Amino acid sequence: MTRVAVLDGIGSCLPPRLVTNDELAARLDTSDAWIRSRTGIRQRYVVTDGTGTSDLAVGAGSRALKSSGDPHADTVVVATTTPDRPCPATAPAVAARLGLGHAAAYDVAAVCTGFLYALATASGLIALGVSARALVIGAETFSRILNPDDRSTSVIFGDGAGAVVLRAGSPDEPGALGPFELRSDGEGRDLITVPAGGPPPADPAAGPGAADYYFTMQGKKVFRLAVQRMGECARAVLDRAGRRPGDVDRLVSHQANQRIIERLADEIGIPYERTVSNIARVGNTAAASIPLALDHAHTERVLRPGDRVLLTAFGGGLTWGASMLTWPAIDPV
Ligand code: ACO
Repeated sequence: MTRVAVLDGIGSCLPPRLVTNDELAARLDTSDAWIRSRTGIRQRYVVTDGTGTSDLAVGAGSRALKSSGDPHADTVVVATTTPDRPCPATAPAVAARLGLGHAAAYDVAAVCTGFLYALATASGLIALGVSARALVIGAETFSRILNPDDRSTSVIFGDGAGAVVLRAGSPDEPGALGPFELRSDGEGRDLITVPAGGPPPADPAAGPGAADYYFTMQGKKVFRLAVQRMGECARAVLDRAGRRPGDVDRLVSHQANQRIIERLADEIGIPYERTVSNIARVGNTAAASIPLALDHAHTERVLRPGDRVLLTAFGGGLTWGASMLTWPAIDPV
């Protein structure tokens, strides 16, 4: 029988510090009205006191394991753009703190598409028999790489983490993941970037300046591409699954902008009422965005067992991807 990855648990973690649009408008040339109307975001959460990506990842991971009813996993994958350090990866520390012994542990860097890339690689390990239970986490502390004076990025991103547990199962059971589509276009690598952070320059005087360590995004160009690319690969996944847009009960796309979610639904041919959105509450949390949206929708019973769910994301790289599953019965933690 074909062996595939099946979703078996879910959890998330947000840092306690809430930042409203009005708080940002008090120090930047922006307004609550602009942020809400252009992005749909009303607030976001940010880390304080040295909290790192691994701390949020441990919080989300432990809740996901608890919801699955089994504290074990032999593989931990952390999708992140904001690792605690450039070296080593964040996942081994997360696995150790979760008491997962010598579990295989690695990070995936695909910016906002990172969670889907991580989900696909973990699913591959399960299909191969390398892994029996994998913990897949999307975790970010974008607030650490935002230029506090840049209104075009500061208002958009928030911190957080979401996680799922995957187990081995069969393709016809609820929670079975697939098919997957993963794509990239490095020609667009400068559209979403943190320019500095590589090896130290030979001539420190010619090296990167302080501003080069901040995240930058050419939002207008990215907006159009995000709708187009997510639409293409979401349709490819539907075709490979032998499904039509009308078969989708819930579209859970990367939470980059409420206007992107609306246009994407239109582009694929899915009624807007079937989209899932938590961007008003948490902003764009990059690799954490899809698992956070899934966990919030699950907890609020927007997602119901048996719902056919289409996932798609787009981010820096450029990278994009899509997948599908039928939502399984999982007890909220
Ligand atoms: N407050 C007030 N005005 C602002 C702000 C702000 N926070 N930010 C920009 N503006 C101004 C601009 O300066 C510009 O002014 P001008 O017309 O005088 O030049 C005007 O608003 C319009 O700016 P745009 O950049 O064209 O604004 P837009 O409507 O495109 O919204 C946004 C910007 C929200 C970034 C949007 O382009 C977007 O969501 N892009 C896609 C993001 C995305 O999909 N990212 C991919 C994943 S993220 C990742 O991978 C990490």
